[in-house]
Amino acid sequence: MSKAIKKIGVLTSGGDSPGMNAAIRAVVRTCAYYNIECVGIYRGYQGMIEGDFKEMGPRSVNNIVNKGGTVLKTARSKDFMTAEGRKKAHGHLVEAGIDSLVIIGGDGSFTGAEVFNKEFGFPVIGIPGTIDNDIFGTTHTLGYDTALNTVVEAVDKIRDTASSHNRLFFVEVMGRDAGHIALNAGIGAGAEEILIPEENLGLDRLLESLQRSKASGKASSIVVIAEGDKIGKTVFELKDYVEANLPEYDVRVSVLGHMQRGGTPSCFDRVLASRLGVKAVESLLQGKSNYMVGLMHDKITLTPLEQAIKGSSKIDEELLRVSDIMST
Ligand code: F6P
Repeated sequence: MSKAIKKIGVLTSGGDSPGMNAAIRAVVRTCAYYNIECVGIYRGYQGMIEGDFKEMGPRSVNNIVNKGGTVLKTARSKDFMTAEGRKKAHGHLVEAGIDSLVIIGGDGSFTGAEVFNKEFGFPVIGIPGTIDNDIFGTTHTLGYDTALNTVVEAVDKIRDTASSHNRLFFVEVMGRDAGHIALNAGIGAGAEEILIPEENLGLDRLLESLQRSKASGKASSIVVIAEGDKIGKTVFELKDYVEANLPEYDVRVSVLGHMQRGGTPSCFDRVLASRLGVKAVESLLQGKSNYMVGLMHDKITLTPLEQAIKGSSKIDEELLRVSDIMST
């Protein structure tokens, strides 16, 4: 029989994503709803190691549902990867009377949560928060929908100047190991080609496709490329390569970078954050631990953390086909 939960610690870890604040708010208010205490842990696992805590009540999360970033700050803690760091963190939690954790982050953060749970038997629940959407057990991670809209808006603007100058643009988007942003935002923004880490399109096919575009009467083109693309060249090397092989193209590069991680969360991300936050707290109260809450077929579900970490979120092959047809 698990011990009754009385005080939940909540933290954000890894790369921030729009919707994290809405999730913090949901966790804090659900705790208040069930009359249990809630403590905000600053700077992710690093703040846990340093005991950087603050009691939070329903009024301390006023007016953050609409804010990007994370009011609790975030970090990629190297110290938490050591047994010594985790021991210190555990000591601070016990000292503060915190008896369970909600961790909002990506797979690196969940790996830390799982190890911590194994070592100390500490109850943990994960909420998937990353713009990359690369977590198994949820069709959407927090911030992904907002990031897609940010990218589409940026590419729409790039298209204006691309078409005015009859230029080809390579637009690099985030996604170290995953092409979800590139593929979905690429289709949404009408990209001619989309290069993703999961598929090696090959340089020859890229050149052929660009040649075909020109021949079919397209004066300007957009190629969206994920930062972790497999083609083996940086976006700047690709520009040089295409200019060397297809001199008829005037090529420019635009790296969207961290602007994709900021901004006001979309309605979808806010609602998802609220649903996931409620489920995370209720799961802990029901004695559940070592799970990630997620969204599957519009229902909030639980996936064992181990599976969420080990499983991969596959690219939808149908989208590759749609993208191909759309570039005709
Ligand atoms: O994991 C989210 C992400 O935005 C990736 O898409 C990107 O590769 C990485 O974080 C960048 O991390 P950092 O801000 O630490 O450089």
